Amino acid sequence: IFFNIFYYSLYGPNSLHCECILPHSCSGIMASVMEKLITPLASGPAEPPRNKVTVVGVGQVGMACAVSILLRELTDELALVDVVEDRLKGEMLDLQHGSLFLKTPKIVADKDYSVTANSRIVVVTAGVRQQEGESRLNLVQRNVNIFKHIIPQIVKYSPDCTLIVVSNPVDVLTYVTWKLSGLPKHRVIGSGTNLDSARFRHIMAEKLGIHSSSFNGYILGEHGDSSVPVWSGANVAGVSLQKLNPDIGTDKDSENWKDAHKMVVDSAYEVIKLKGYTNWAIGLSVADLTETLVKNLNRVHPVSTMVKGMYGIGEEVYLSMPCVLNSSGVGSVINMTLTDEEIAQLKKSADTLWGIQKDLKDL
Ligand SMILES: *[C@@H]1O[C@H](CO)[C@@H](O)[C@H](O)[C@H]1NC(C)=O
Ligand SMILES: *[C@@H]1O[C@H](CO)[C@@H](O)[C@H](O)[C@H]1NC(C)=O
Repeated sequence: IFFNIFYYSLYGPNSLHCECILPHSCSGIMASVMEKLITPLASGPAEPPRNKVTVVGVGQVGMACAVSILLRELTDELALVDVVEDRLKGEMLDLQHGSLFLKTPKIVADKDYSVTANSRIVVVTAGVRQQEGESRLNLVQRNVNIFKHIIPQIVKYSPDCTLIVVSNPVDVLTYVTWKLSGLPKHRVIGSGTNLDSARFRHIMAEKLGIHSSSFNGYILGEHGDSSVPVWSGANVAGVSLQKLNPDIGTDKDSENWKDAHKMVVDSAYEVIKLKGYTNWAIGLSVADLTETLVKNLNRVHPVSTMVKGMYGIGEEVYLSMPCVLNSSGVGSVINMTLTDEEIAQLKKSADTLWGIQKDLKDL
């Protein structure tokens, strides 16, 4: 028996080298466990994945995005890409070993972008970080040079995908991605202030003793230090906080609610100081965007989109606005009723971003 098993594994189930004399015992040996166990019904070629998601970059942020997307059961195939091959393979195997606890039957990884073929969504977390004393323009230019390799490869293998750019500075890199991809603007989204808004809602809701989802408020504009909290729209159950306290969000406010926005801006620095990077909240927020895109939910998210022509912005810049996302990407943008001051802040961010973008080379 031992010999026969050995023989089978050497020559395979369809081997012509069977030397059995009795036909029935021969077929008994030749049929594999799989052939004995499973009777195939369907035939024809395997179908391409329907909801494939690719994550580019397997650093802390990329893996938090990947795990959040896996746990929310949004995808039938997950592809990971990176240039660091050992790390990439290690992350792939580690996730595959968790297959029993997931509902994503195929997890693949490679440094070659062919592994990303047929993606519906591609999350871009790759890029270099700012070095001490490095100018923002220099950082962006270094990332442009990296994106020039990444983005055309993604589009080559998944021409109909929607891109979610997460790498920082996210608004400029979303513009860069849009330019390099040649995709229509509604298919290139920056994670933008989606996370800033989530932090804002968490902080405000905690002050009020309610769940984040019950505090409605947006942080728009540029992701990071110069983001714009829209106090005029902050509400709970439709009750405007600005109606209750006309000074809310201003320096005149005796309750100092403005501090909540300062906490949002500081929170990234605080987490980085404590643990070296931020990853869980951004990962969860990207999975939330992915869900809306995959399930065609038409939910509103504050994400970075091309804002030329809105609020008197004249240049091609990406800034966060409340966007209605569906399977087409950004289906539409909500026209906010902003105060003059809020509009002035948005324009200032647009000018700052354009100041960097106009000097970028090779776009
Ligand atoms: C997404 O929304 C836009 C605007 O409402 C609409 O034109 C488009 O058809 C929608 N896409 C899908 C797939 O429903
Ligand atoms: C958006 O709303 C503002 C007022 O809040 C208005 O001035 C502007 O014309 C609107 N834009 C569009 C495109 O309707």
